[in-house]
Amino acid sequence: MSTWVNEQCVSFFQLLCIKIVKTGRVPQHLAFIMDGNRRYAKKLSVNTTDGHTKGFDKLSEALKWCIDLGIPEVTVYAFSIENFKRTEEEVNSLMDLARDKFTRLLDGIDQINAWGVRVHVAGRLSLLPEDLHNLVSKAMLATRHNDKLRLNIAYAYTGRDEISRAASHLVDGVKRNKLFAEDIDEDLISETLDLGSAELLIRTSGEVRLSDFMLWQVPSTVLYFSEVLWPEFTVWNLLAAIIHFQRHAPEKLPIKESNHRQTEFLECLEDKYWHDLETVVKCS
Ligand code: FPP
Ligand code: MG
Repeated sequence: MSTWVNEQCVSFFQLLCIKIVKTGRVPQHLAFIMDGNRRYAKKLSVNTTDGHTKGFDKLSEALKWCIDLGIPEVTVYAFSIENFKRTEEEVNSLMDLARDKFTRLLDGIDQINAWGVRVHVAGRLSLLPEDLHNLVSKAMLATRHNDKLRLNIAYAYTGRDEISRAASHLVDGVKRNKLFAEDIDEDLISETLDLGSAELLIRTSGEVRLSDFMLWQVPSTVLYFSEVLWPEFTVWNLLAAIIHFQRHAPEKLPIKESNHRQTEFLECLEDKYWHDLETVVKCS
């Protein structure tokens, strides 16, 4: 059974409040910096791994709230490239947690497909242990046609690394005459990145930094900082953040059309992306 969307976590009264809040504008892309798992573990005198496990359980609740709110895209910061510098024990336990959750996702694939959740793991995936790289690739391929909620999991990710990978793709496009240098503009860079712009970004645990998350994507994002540790985040905290968004959201900007070289370049990049995932899975 998949535990990725917790179906049991919303009471009738909470659902009523969700329905009232969603009569107003709801962000079309919500991002979370899920911070405070270790402080939560310390507070409860449990080990760090249990804190991260509770963090995942909270994510599965948050996904249900987002589905009920009608939010079509959610991005979570689950493992930064900087997190590789934590103790070997903690890094291994986070990798094991991801192994367990992606295995469950694949075992319960019918359920995640019934929810219509498309999983996209964004980051420098070559940094992951081979078996985990294989598992996340399988999960992305198995859910690629789902269209109700796109869940982007930033893993082995930093914003600066994402921008530098995009720059390499663009340089490669120019070298191979797929692009002209003058085709490279802000919109093409945005499209070449792993993640699209978020309308609302929530960080928990009282920290007020971006910590190298979605750096390109936040020029007009509404930021919301909550004192609550991530495993203690509730639907009320989320609704407060959405109401904050409704008070501060800027007007939506029109989307600029790409020229035909830019469109072809992006299509080639996407084909290569899926081809590379299939190769990882086939070679395993
Ligand atoms: C930040 O809290 C949290 C992390 C570095 C890991 C977040 C991971 C999860 C919630 C599980 C997600 C798993 C999958 C497979 C999607 P912290 O460790 O920085 O805690 P602290 O700020 O209290 O030290
Ligand atoms: Mg932290």
